[in-house]
Amino acid sequence: MSGIDAKKIRTRHFREAKVNGQKVSVLTSYDALSARIFDEAGVDMLLVGDSAANVVLGRDTTLSITLDEMIVLAKAVTIATKRALVVVDLPFGTYEVSPNQAVESAIRIMRETGAAAVKIEGGVEIAQTIRRIVDAGIPVVGHIGYTPQSEHSLGGHVVQGRDASSGKLIADARAVEQAGAFAVVLEMVPAEAAREVTEDLSITTIGIGAGNGTDGQVLVWQDAFGLNRGKKPRFVREYATLGDSLHDAAQAYIADIHAGTFPGEAESF
Ligand code: KIV
Repeated sequence: MSGIDAKKIRTRHFREAKVNGQKVSVLTSYDALSARIFDEAGVDMLLVGDSAANVVLGRDTTLSITLDEMIVLAKAVTIATKRALVVVDLPFGTYEVSPNQAVESAIRIMRETGAAAVKIEGGVEIAQTIRRIVDAGIPVVGHIGYTPQSEHSLGGHVVQGRDASSGKLIADARAVEQAGAFAVVLEMVPAEAAREVTEDLSITTIGIGAGNGTDGQVLVWQDAFGLNRGKKPRFVREYATLGDSLHDAAQAYIADIHAGTFPGEAESF
């Protein structure tokens, strides 16, 4: 079954896709060139994730990326995107203090980047904040299960929602939906629990490490397309080996320079 049929994707298309049983595709993007390629390929949503802290800025966790840094990256993505709906993460420290702080951060993202929505981590505890952002006219994507900004309190990169905490997962999902989010990311939860949440909710669920029963899937593109040659989570499927291709291309370039064969006549004035 094909994806969303629209020239420009809006939040309502995600609702319609769920009703029609159409799966939605999401990729991260943090720059104009990848955004243009993924948009032209037909991805439904582009997520300017705070995973940029890891895969763009080389940091160990997502905690240190700032709103200013996110805004620079998000602007590049929106400039290059015609069809996909662009969503930007609210980074750590820009929404937890109060709903007012969250609304101000979300307004900056919308005003300065041209994105169509923001994403925010958390469930029941963040529901009131989601409601305030939605009431300000800003579409919200929730993010529950494993939430990387809370990795220290969650005890590391571990699957959430197993047995004892499966009640929390469904409570978080319902709270996010009731607060007005139009979609929710389910990260690293058992496939069965993600399927149950998906059946329970009327908003779109987007899985990452959450099995095949969600309404859509998201992956970090550097993992999915092999630019990242390091260790990858088990839930990643590698569709290309761009890291190896780049490495080989760089070696060929260096060898041509050493051999004096680049530039040739065709590349000279
Ligand atoms: O920051 C990010 O890339 C994300 C995805 C893993 C969903 O939040």
